[in-house]
Amino acid sequence: MVQGTVNWNTEITQEWLQSYVDDWVKFYKKQTRDGEVASYIPELNKANPNHLGISIVGNNGVTIKSGDVDIPFTIQSISKVFCFIIACMERGVSYVLDRVDVEPTGEAFNSIMHLEMRKLKKPFNPFVNAGAITVSSMLNGKTSDEKLEPLFILLEKMLGYRPALNINVYESERDTSIRNRAIGYYLLELDYLESDMNITLETYFKQCSIEITVDDLATIGRVFANDGIDPNSGVEIIPRKIVRLAKALMLTCGMYDASGKFAAYVGIPAKSGVSGGIIAVAPPRVRDEELPFIDGCGIGVYGPSLDDKGNSIAGIKLLRHIATKWDLSVF
Ligand code: DON
Repeated sequence: MVQGTVNWNTEITQEWLQSYVDDWVKFYKKQTRDGEVASYIPELNKANPNHLGISIVGNNGVTIKSGDVDIPFTIQSISKVFCFIIACMERGVSYVLDRVDVEPTGEAFNSIMHLEMRKLKKPFNPFVNAGAITVSSMLNGKTSDEKLEPLFILLEKMLGYRPALNINVYESERDTSIRNRAIGYYLLELDYLESDMNITLETYFKQCSIEITVDDLATIGRVFANDGIDPNSGVEIIPRKIVRLAKALMLTCGMYDASGKFAAYVGIPAKSGVSGGIIAVAPPRVRDEELPFIDGCGIGVYGPSLDDKGNSIAGIKLLRHIATKWDLSVF
């Protein structure tokens, strides 16, 4: 069934899409065996490695969900996109980009190498830990809760409810994150931090521990696909210039040192996290033929079994399959 083809020109029904996605999720669920759940944050290691779920929310109002869609998980590095957006909204794009660049590193998300090389005199991009921690230090507010309040307000505007922190995951990362503390000290030494280092790290650990579902990621992705406008109300939630910059960074740096391959084989902006979540954004396409979700959609994936880069092993394969079948690539 996975190799089956559909003539999208005839009639696309929601039931068809649902049955195809159900088959694909069933097929790729087997691939979860080839990866491993993150263990360096002990609390994340409690996830069920066999889980795989997807939610697709279209600008046309159609929603397709399949697999393990009701499991809450923490956003981890996906928060880096949202905090980058908040920093740009609070400080202005040029202020932020003067302090964090927009270049892919080709290195692991927690690499320190580029900080030591000091080639750019600032972190390479806001989605590697060094860049994300620098961005967290730029957020307005004296305490971590004050710094993160605008993020919660933004999420609530998009989701219609205020997500909560998973305190166990927060404490687990806070109490074990030697590497991120090392990055914090490095940033402090280089004078890149704009707030107290401990408050900045507390902010970073908390933003990573916000708990959501695949439906939430798809709903947020749909706002991104719609250039920052809530498709239901028509209200602009994120300025277009900022959301487009965020999408460009997702495409070039969102999947860490697998970003090039993801752009080549999937071809849509996406951001992953070590809990196994991926947010992906399929913008509206201009094509003569009829294709599923031609008006754009947001996609949320959860699959905690990870590949060696820290991305959901089955989630990436599932996204690649869907993007190929439905011709989602932006290129
Ligand atoms: O910095 C960390 O270790 C995590 N809290 C976030 C890392 C992450 O999600 C990287 N993802 N692929």
